[in-house]
Amino acid sequence: MPTSPSPALVLVHAFPMGSAMWRQQMRVASGWRVIAPPLPGFDGRPLVAEHSMDAYARDLLAQLDEAGIHRAVFGGLSMGGYVIFGLLRQAPERVAGMILADTRTSVDNPDRRAARERSIALARQRGPAAIADEMLPGILGPTTHARRPDVVAQTRALIEAQPAETIAAALEAMMTRPDSLAVLARVTVPTRMIVGAEDTITPPSDADTMHRAIPGSDVIVIPEAGHMANLEAPDAFNAALREFLANPGKFAALRAPR
Ligand code: MLT
Repeated sequence: MPTSPSPALVLVHAFPMGSAMWRQQMRVASGWRVIAPPLPGFDGRPLVAEHSMDAYARDLLAQLDEAGIHRAVFGGLSMGGYVIFGLLRQAPERVAGMILADTRTSVDNPDRRAARERSIALARQRGPAAIADEMLPGILGPTTHARRPDVVAQTRALIEAQPAETIAAALEAMMTRPDSLAVLARVTVPTRMIVGAEDTITPPSDADTMHRAIPGSDVIVIPEAGHMANLEAPDAFNAALREFLANPGKFAALRAPR
């Protein structure tokens, strides 16, 4: 398999939407090969037997092998970040840098797990449209709800495009994910956190926690954006991404590689 001639940026999507959520980021930086592989069950990709973030990370690595990409900068939003933590556990040598957007290292508390169980039942009984109804109020910020009906409609369509069983499987995978803060404490690659100022699911305080775990990283807070910062404020999100890709060395982790 030929190896990639350009540096690669791999974008890992959020729950419960597929690769199309990255449409506005696919041409973010000239000279970079940008790919956005779907996680298991999304966009027609087959489900995997084990519903876990580590299984999703394994599937992603297999797709990168097929694409001839050995090492890449990874950008993950929310669940996409959880999958990148799985990559760090399994194959840290393949991660050349990270954009961790609107994500967190902590596990679900009992209330959150109970809510996930209810969402699994909802997805199976009433389908993706009911999941979109449930999620849209919280997943987008108040500014987007007030001023960007096009983004609200686009986000609904992204959710409704995915099968109910894929949504149920991803909920199960997320509710059993391990705490990943200790994994970040071993990171030696350039890292930037991006978070919407109006994100109440993974607020800026979660980005600060990750930033403190990786000396040398930084945090960009995007005004007037909620949990889906790349959809809600694509210009600001892309500027933050582009600045990082132009000079990753500026964000190098301030600790010696192991
Ligand atoms: C996501 O955007 O991927 C989800 O909101 C993550 C989560 O529910 O933990």
